Amino acid sequence: MYEVNHYFSQLPQSYLFSRIAKTVADFRAQHPEAEIIRMGIGDVTRPIAPAALEGMAEGIRAMGSADTFVGYGPEQGHEFLRSAIAEGDFHSRGIAMADDEIFVSDGAKSDIGNFPDILDSHIRVAVTDPVYPVYVDSNVMGGRGGKLQPDGRWSGIDYMPCTEANGFVPDLPAKAPGVMYLCYPNNPTGTVLTHDQLKYFVDYARTNGVLILFDAAYEAFVSSPDVPRSIYEIDGARECAVEFRSFSKTAGFTGLRLGYTVVPRELRGSDGHGGQVALRDLWLRRQTTKFNGASYVIQCGAAQLYTPEGREQIQATIDYYKSNATMLREGLTGAGLTTYGGVDSPYVWCKAPAGLSSEEFFRLLLDRCHIVTTPGSGFGPSGEGFVRLTAFSTHELTAKAVERLKHLI
Ligand code: MLT
Repeated sequence: MYEVNHYFSQLPQSYLFSRIAKTVADFRAQHPEAEIIRMGIGDVTRPIAPAALEGMAEGIRAMGSADTFVGYGPEQGHEFLRSAIAEGDFHSRGIAMADDEIFVSDGAKSDIGNFPDILDSHIRVAVTDPVYPVYVDSNVMGGRGGKLQPDGRWSGIDYMPCTEANGFVPDLPAKAPGVMYLCYPNNPTGTVLTHDQLKYFVDYARTNGVLILFDAAYEAFVSSPDVPRSIYEIDGARECAVEFRSFSKTAGFTGLRLGYTVVPRELRGSDGHGGQVALRDLWLRRQTTKFNGASYVIQCGAAQLYTPEGREQIQATIDYYKSNATMLREGLTGAGLTTYGGVDSPYVWCKAPAGLSSEEFFRLLLDRCHIVTTPGSGFGPSGEGFVRLTAFSTHELTAKAVERLKHLI
């Protein structure tokens, strides 16, 4: 009999959001009359920006004519999009970035899950706790997890707790890891790091030879002036950090799929034989081997998001979700609950009323209010006692959810 990757069998049986989807499907089957409000997985509700639709329409027209047809594109993404990204997301904010340090892909989740391919199979991994489960699960699949402990932590992974006690600013691991995942604005807590707080991590990484994998999927939600939108706003970050970006939550691309990863030329790792190797070259090698590039049509759509009209339309979408986040925060606080996040982020982290676990509070909100959330414990042991709500619903349903919450406790 052939052998499978046995690390898979150590993982919890299903991915967090698949498990929640199943619970909600069971609830719906039992209560077909219930109007369920979905604030669980961070899927969006606003339609695609008109500028992107027009860009995609042009891309489709090009595909329909032999003169303009486009087949396989560059694995790294079309130059027209990479230069628009470099200009729109970096140069315009005073950050140096070369087009060929940008790798366009079918989404940040794929890149984050795939990136460990180019790292040593024994590299020590550190994650925040609670944490977006992809960071942990993809490393467990790659054999870096060790054993799952009774407390829900993996023995091979270092956890940096983010709790009320430390203001959700992660504590550093006792020993410097090889790679550290940071996500800011944070998924799931919705909290942020200021410029100085992020600088502390960048300085630590440079001093200790740590690679930071920085997930900036929610950067567009930042409006506080001292909160960086990119890790490259911090001096020296080009020498220690990779950054992941997404078009999902800003432009409504959750169903279209598009993201990008920045791998600066300065990043160099050890080849294990006394030499050094550029991470950018390894990632290019990995992508050219395993990926044939993101859809041309969708890249045409994304490029239009960098026009003045596109930018305005995206800002309107962000503002829409941010006002939902405010409504949620105020509604939950008004109902006597404690919340964090939701200011520079679409996620609100809500503390369960005294005595309730994450799962119990999740169940209560589903059964009594018909609101789907995500139990904080699903993101790691330090998420126990919280649930996460998303601001990606409509104004109408967010207002309705707040109304239902008023009568909860
Ligand atoms: C989430 O709900 O945490 C995100 O939507 C998941 C994702 O982006 O993959």
